[in-house]
Amino acid sequence: MTESPATLEVAVLGAGTVGSQVIRLLEEQADDFAARAGARIRVVSVLVRHPDAPRDVEIDPALLTTDAATAIDGRDLVVELIGGIEPARTYVLRALSQGISVVTGNKALLAAHGPELYEAAADSGADLYYEAAVAGAVPVVYGLRESLAGDRITRVIGIVNGTTNFILDAMATTGAGYEQALFRAQELGYAEADPTADVDGLDAAAKCAILASLAFHTRVGIDDVEVEGIRSITAEDMSEASFFTQTIKLLAIAERRVGEDGREGVAVRVHPALLPTDHPLASVAGAYNAILVEGEAAGRLMFYGQGAGGAPTASAVLSDLVAAASHRVHGGHAPRESVYAHLPILDPGSARTRYQMRLRVEDRLGVLSDVASIFARHGVSIQSVHQRDGRGPGQAVIVIATHVAREADLRAVAHALSQSPAVREVASTIRIESDDPRSVVPAAD
Ligand code: NDP
Ligand code: HSE
Repeated sequence: MTESPATLEVAVLGAGTVGSQVIRLLEEQADDFAARAGARIRVVSVLVRHPDAPRDVEIDPALLTTDAATAIDGRDLVVELIGGIEPARTYVLRALSQGISVVTGNKALLAAHGPELYEAAADSGADLYYEAAVAGAVPVVYGLRESLAGDRITRVIGIVNGTTNFILDAMATTGAGYEQALFRAQELGYAEADPTADVDGLDAAAKCAILASLAFHTRVGIDDVEVEGIRSITAEDMSEASFFTQTIKLLAIAERRVGEDGREGVAVRVHPALLPTDHPLASVAGAYNAILVEGEAAGRLMFYGQGAGGAPTASAVLSDLVAAASHRVHGGHAPRESVYAHLPILDPGSARTRYQMRLRVEDRLGVLSDVASIFARHGVSIQSVHQRDGRGPGQAVIVIATHVAREADLRAVAHALSQSPAVREVASTIRIESDDPRSVVPAAD
């Protein structure tokens, strides 16, 4: 006779978009999870704020509680899906201090307090898992933490925020302006009523910090990430991009490179960037996420899939839960924090990339030479110039693409241009993420 498997008690903290799907799937696929983990995984408590609120799935009212101690203490496993820093941090630490393994999808918490959580897990021998914190269902955390542990990662670049990708994609494909596309994202439930964390790039910055820490074995927090959101992207920027067979995406970029002092370091940034339409990230549509990882031995890998939503995110949470449950039954541990490299975080001003700048100028003799001399004065080399008629008589639009330049030098150029009598307006300055010079050739050429 086979022995019936033990039961592991799980507390689910939060029963919103993701938590409710985790509870549903644990119930619906209980036998499969028992077989995979070697024990039945039973939800015994669900921590919420409003026990009487309507839920996406039916939850036994007897499980609901507003008391964290009742929910957490003495459990085998805790799933944290409350979000935000507090009280999530306190609850996760409470669980870890009791040796209870924790699975969380909380990127804000990890990017702000990751080392503290890792330490608490190591002290008590508990597991800390967070696949759902970056790119929802896409297994990029596992990819970096485990599958690529044998490689030297040089660069991670990706679209890690579904809301902003939906907005930019809507602007590119329908010609909508930013506000209109944001409204559509809110109508469809992608963007929150307060979309700040998404559109200002903070959500992507937290994910970028997590990816960089894993890729470069170095502690990277959200404050290390240079962040620029998408609020300033206009319909004109997007149609201009399309004119040059480009599109605009919000990119999270973490790279290993040599800093100005000659030492190797890590640069982490989130900003909108122009991509040629044949770039692998350019075709990532709607609320999807995709991450390119470049390893010295593996070469380039692409992770792609649904980066948000209840069920896709629950899939990632549940894979972590099976791993943590299996360790309870069979022994073993989640990988510990790996920060042995201790690489310095490089100054954002030293970042080197290409730029595309759109200027409105007086259409008169010598303007181009005035503009070019400003670039030359600041050591920024021009790669291509395209001029056409502007909105009114005597006006022109000049689109200039640069060779790779220092961020600080480009800022100085933009400032000098804005002061120049030759220039009416610096209409936009957007980074170009491509080494391919064809990216700035007009579509008609
Ligand atoms: P929701 O806002 O939908 O749900 C949050 C849940 O937490 C609610 O059930 C809420 O209770 C409960 N809660 C909030 N504050 C407290 C508190 N102080 N005490 C007790 N319970 C509380 O969040 P999501 O499900 O969308 O997100 C959960 C986590 O997953 C976040 O960290 C998020 O970043 C992450 N994530 C989310 C994704 C998504 O697509 N939604 C994708 C990837 C990660 P009540 O219902 O009673 O108000
Ligand atoms: N707000 C996030 C996004 C949810 O739009 O990608 C997933 O982390």
